[in-house]
This record gives sequence, structure tokens and C-alpha cells, in this order.
Amino acid sequence: MQPAARPRRSCLAVPGSSPRFIAKAQGLDADEVFLDLEDAVAPAAKPAARRAVAQALRDGGWGGRVMAVRINDVTTAWAYRDVVDVVEQAGPHLDAIVLPKVTGPGHVVWLDLLLGQIEQAKGYPVGAIGIEAQIEDARGLAAVDAIAAASPRLAALVFGPADFMASLGMRSLDIGAQPAGYAGGDAFHYPLLRLLVAARAHGLQAIDGPYAAIADTEGLARAAASVAALGFDGKWVLHPGQVGPVNEAFSPSQQDYDRAERILAAYAHYTGEDQRGAALLDGQMIDEASRKLALVTAARGRAAGLTPTRGAVPG
Ligand code: GLV
Ligand code: MG
Repeated sequence: MQPAARPRRSCLAVPGSSPRFIAKAQGLDADEVFLDLEDAVAPAAKPAARRAVAQALRDGGWGGRVMAVRINDVTTAWAYRDVVDVVEQAGPHLDAIVLPKVTGPGHVVWLDLLLGQIEQAKGYPVGAIGIEAQIEDARGLAAVDAIAAASPRLAALVFGPADFMASLGMRSLDIGAQPAGYAGGDAFHYPLLRLLVAARAHGLQAIDGPYAAIADTEGLARAAASVAALGFDGKWVLHPGQVGPVNEAFSPSQQDYDRAERILAAYAHYTGEDQRGAALLDGQMIDEASRKLALVTAARGRAAGLTPTRGAVPG
């Protein structure tokens, strides 16, 4: 993972056509808000939604969180105007564009070039707007390595379970939940791990998609804890009630965070003053690989605002 990347534990989807939801999103604790122009906006409402999204970005009040807009996919008639209108009107207030239904590197290259043209024409810093590529069908997953390498603007790969389930023909109507009847364990294990490996091979964050059963907080927490354990950085949320459980799932516990800081401090001492490569700490051998693992947890803990418990880490 990139320790310096901005946290994206919870990425809140907000329909770009709903001023009420846009206003409400400002008060929530999501690490990222993305204003949607794609599947949450009806075709006839898309032009007005573009204007509303650009206005909401320009108006500000979003704090330090990552601000993104999901445009329509590159095969639609809407995609180019989504980019042109939103970026021309509000580019300096935009951190990233979420590009859905990416099936090959050409989609990302198209967006990269178009963004570069608008940035130059408007005098914005070139390359400042990032791209989050949604992998949500069989073709996208098959091409995920090439997609992950397609542009230096890429910040994250995002798994899209709803479209992915449809693409594969999974027998389920419950987005993000395990398909009933599947006896092989986690039906999403392969695509999630595949996406994660491609993301990490190119220094990108890995984000899981939505869990649609809003009232099922337990199921959401289980799904989030599982991908967090695998190594993912965050997950989409669709409702204010999903933000807290998802932030929690992607933040290390105080105990794990303390332990990570303790490993880092002890390892620095052993390799520095004692000039040893491996040592015993709290009954476990630690070496250079332990330091790398501890760095991941420590970086996530610091990003989540944790500080070491007094006395847990040698000073
Ligand atoms: C999100 O876009 C999904 O398809 O799950
Ligand atoms: Mg989708």
C-alpha cells in the first residue's frame, strides 16, 4: 500500500441529481464523497446533474476529504460531456474522476488525455486530477494489470460487485452479499484478490464496492472486515448508517496499532544499536518483513488518527 495516499476507508456514493443528498453528505464522516452521474442518475436528469455536481464542488464545504465525480462509461454518449462540463467548471475542486465499467487500458488513456487537454486549456495544474478505475465485468478483470498500468493519474482500482455479478451470471439479486447456495466459501475471493494484486503491483489503492442491504449492518460489517483483512483500503457506502461501520472495519484496533508501533521501535533499536537483523519481541521473532507489515498497520492507524497508548511503545 502507499502509506502517503489519502485515506479512502469509506467512499460515499451520492446521486448527483439530488441536492438533498448532496447537502446531507457534507456532514458525514466519509473519507471520500463521489458525486454520481452514472447509474444513480436517470438519463433525462444527467444534464442537470452535471450542473448540480459542478456547483456543489465549487460551493465547497467538503473539508479535507477526497472529492470525486463518477462519470458515465466511455461507451455512452454522455461520457465526454460529463468530463468537459464538470472539469471546466470545477476542476480545481476535484480530486478524482471515478471511471466505471473499465474493460481495457484504452478507457483510462482516453480519460487521461481528455483531462490533460482541459487542464491545459483552463490553466489548471496538469495531472492533478486522479482516476479511480472501476473493474466490474469479466473483461475488466481479465485486463486488470494493463488497466492498472495505463496512467500515472490512477489512484485506485474499485471493485464493482453489482455489475460484476451480472457479467458473470451469478445467481443473486443481493449486491455485495454472498450468493445463496454457493458452497465454495467467498464467491468474491478471486476477483478481489486479483484486483488487489494488480493495484499493489502499480502502487494503487484497492477499494471494494457497495453492500446494498442498508438495514443489514452486521452483513456490511462482515463484508468490510473480510476485505480489510485481505488488504483493501476501503469500501463504498450508500447510506449515512454505513459510514461508521466501514470506517471502523478499515481502521486498525488500538491494540494492533500499538503493537505495530512497538515492532517498529524495537526493530529500529535492534538493527541500529544492537546491529542484529532478527530478534524476539513479546514471544515472536521479528525481522525486516515484520517491519514492513508493521509499517502498513502503523500507517493506517496514523491516518485514522490513532496515537500510541502511553507506555505501549518504548520511547
Ligand atoms: C458498482 O458500480 C457496482 O456495479 O457494484
Ligand atoms: Mg457498477
